[in-house]
Amino acid sequence: MNPSSTPSRILGIETSCDETAAAVVANGTDVLSSVVSSQVDLHARFGGVVPELASRAHVELLVPVVAEALVEAGLDGEGIDAVAATIGPGLVGALLVGVSAAKATALVWDVPFVGVNHLEAHLYASFLEEPQLELPLLVLLVSGAHTMLVLMEDHGRYRLLGSTIDDAAGEAFDKVARFLGLGYPGGPAIDRLAMEGDPTAVVFPRSMLDDGWDFSFSGLKTSVITWVRKHPETPVADVAASFQEAVVDVLVTKARRAAREVGAKGMVLGGGVAANSSLRERVLDACIEDGLQPFLPSRAMCTDNAAMVASAAWWRLRADGPTPLDVPVSPGLGLPLLG
Ligand code: KG4
Ligand code: ZN
Repeated sequence: MNPSSTPSRILGIETSCDETAAAVVANGTDVLSSVVSSQVDLHARFGGVVPELASRAHVELLVPVVAEALVEAGLDGEGIDAVAATIGPGLVGALLVGVSAAKATALVWDVPFVGVNHLEAHLYASFLEEPQLELPLLVLLVSGAHTMLVLMEDHGRYRLLGSTIDDAAGEAFDKVARFLGLGYPGGPAIDRLAMEGDPTAVVFPRSMLDDGWDFSFSGLKTSVITWVRKHPETPVADVAASFQEAVVDVLVTKARRAAREVGAKGMVLGGGVAANSSLRERVLDACIEDGLQPFLPSRAMCTDNAAMVASAAWWRLRADGPTPLDVPVSPGLGLPLLG
């Protein structure tokens, strides 16, 4: 599609997991509105996301959330040029709610529909806030379900350098927090508690630190459990801080080494774990030391939101045009990679 004819104002919808979100973004970077309704309280008592509850909550919340996004943007259907929704990866029932609503809305308003890859949307959260990022760019994508080192050579051109061989970083935060009795979601709870703890109190293992670009976090989780059982007197804040230090150490060491070896010009973070205070600080320091252009998306842009969906949709529309309305949801969708 010709850039000048790319639809300007895109309504984005995100329902892949436990956030019901809608946003209007103009030209891929100008956020006119962004509304996120979190279901955290609904799932907290179960210690994690319950898929069926998430789908039902999306059904209830989506219409008011979209309405609020339109009001905030000062627009009605007339002012929207395309409707986009996350088609995967994510929970199948949850995805179906957002995708069905987006397709129906696009049909009614007679505008294009764009199916968006959730992982690509996380990459675009950075471009949304800093359109001048220089390529090639190393992206450390760390969420509840993914831990990936991606080299973004250009828009839509990605190379996967490394990923987790077991638990995702966010999953490790959530599981350790649950074991420590810190509730759900675990990442923000550990982040807060770690500020009062000593990160050097316990030296937890740094799995695969010098071994390629892949990650492994399940051994670390087991080490935390074993330590706490053997040393129940260790203050929980020290355990949290030491665990976080081990995760951050591995993430930053590998991302840094990868950036150097592939000649990246900058490094950005994406995904919910990118909201972590210690990770943000360490990435910033590393980039300054290594002469890389750093970019840390705002915390609201790190966790799931629909502005990043609308932004990625704008770039996808430019590259591929509208998505056919018979595209299915794709719970196991991966990032589209170069061969
Ligand atoms: O990207 P996201 O909102 O949803 C997925 O696509 O997975 O990421 C959610 C994950 C959860 O595992 C949550 O515990 C983690 O991000 N998270 C954090 C922080 N905020 C959210 N992890 C560490 N520190 C944080 N401050
Ligand atoms: Zn996400």
